[in-house]
Amino acid sequence: MKKIVNLFFLLFSLSFIVNAQVYTLPGLPFALDAYEPFIDAQTMEIHHSKHHAAYVSNLNKAISGSAMEKISMNDLLMYASFRSATVRNNAGGHYNHSLFWEILAPTTAQKPITSELQTAIINQYSSLDSLKILLNQAAATRFGSGWAWLVVTPEGKLAVYSTANQDNPIMDISKERGIPILGIDVWEHAYYLKYQNKRGDYLGAIWNLINWGVVSDKYAAALNDPLLKELEKDNWLAIKEFHKVMAQTFHPAEENNLAPLRTRSGELYAKAILLKNSTPPASANNDKVQEALSRLEKQCLDIHTLVQKPAKNEVAKDALLFEKITKAHDIFHEVEGLCHD
Ligand SMILES: [Fe+2]
Repeated sequence: MKKIVNLFFLLFSLSFIVNAQVYTLPGLPFALDAYEPFIDAQTMEIHHSKHHAAYVSNLNKAISGSAMEKISMNDLLMYASFRSATVRNNAGGHYNHSLFWEILAPTTAQKPITSELQTAIINQYSSLDSLKILLNQAAATRFGSGWAWLVVTPEGKLAVYSTANQDNPIMDISKERGIPILGIDVWEHAYYLKYQNKRGDYLGAIWNLINWGVVSDKYAAALNDPLLKELEKDNWLAIKEFHKVMAQTFHPAEENNLAPLRTRSGELYAKAILLKNSTPPASANNDKVQEALSRLEKQCLDIHTLVQKPAKNEVAKDALLFEKITKAHDIFHEVEGLCHD
C-alpha cells in the first residue's frame, strides 16, 4: 500500500513538472462577436484559440528545461538574434498578439486618447489621421506576413515601423528599435475569412477597434520603462562589434591562450577606432565617455604594436600582452559603466 501511495505522489509531482508552463494564453477581454462587424467572430476565435495558443504552446516547449525558462520576455526578445528560429518566432508571436488583444475594443468600450499622446502625435505627425495613413502604408506595403507598429523610440519619440513575420522592434534583429504601443497584425490569418485578399479593406476597418485609451496608457508606461534605455545602448552597434572581438580575445587570454589576441590584435584596434568615431547614444554622448574611448583606442594600438614587435623573451612579451589586454578590458567596462550611469 505504501508503495502505491509513493507511486501516486511521484506521478502527481511529475505531472506538475511535465505541465509546467512559463507562458499562458491570455483571455480575450471581450466576447468573440464583440469585434463585429470589423472583425468577425470566427476570425477572432481561430486567431486567438488556435494561432496565438500555438505560439504559447510552442514557446513553452522550446524553452522547457533550458535557462530561457528563467529569463524575462523582454530578454528573450532583445537578444532574438542569439535564439533559435523557434524561440524567436514563438516569443514574438506571443508578445505581439498579447499586445494586439489589449489595444482592440468595440467602440462602446473604448477609452479616449490622453492629451499627452495626442500632443505627441500632433507634434510629430500633425494629426491623428496623418499617423493612421502612415501606419496603413507600413501595413499595406509589408510583403507577406508581418506587423505595422507605432513605437516609442529610445529617444522618447514616436515612430512608425514594420517588421516581418513575428519579429518586433524590441528584437536586436530589427534595425529600428523601440517599445511597441500599437501593433497591426497583417498576417492573412488576421483578416482572410472576412476580407480575403483585400488587406486594404481590413486596414480601413481596424481603426474602428483601436482603443486609444489603452494605447495612451502604453505610451506613458513606455516613456518610463527601463527597457527604453536598454534598447538605446543595444542600438550602439559599434560597441557591440568591439565587445565581440574583445570577448573573443580577452577570455582565451585569461586561460593563458594568447593566440586569438595575437592573430586579431589588428581587428581589435580597428574596432576600437570605429567605436571612437561612432556616435554614442544620446544619454552616453559626453566628455567622460569620449575620453575613455580615446584611452581604449590608444590601449588597443599599444597591444597591436606589441604583437607585431619581435620579442627576445616570449614569456615576458606574453606577460606584458596579458597586462595590456586586461587594462583594455578594464577601460571597456569603464565605458560600459559610464553608459549605465
Ligand atoms: Fe496574428
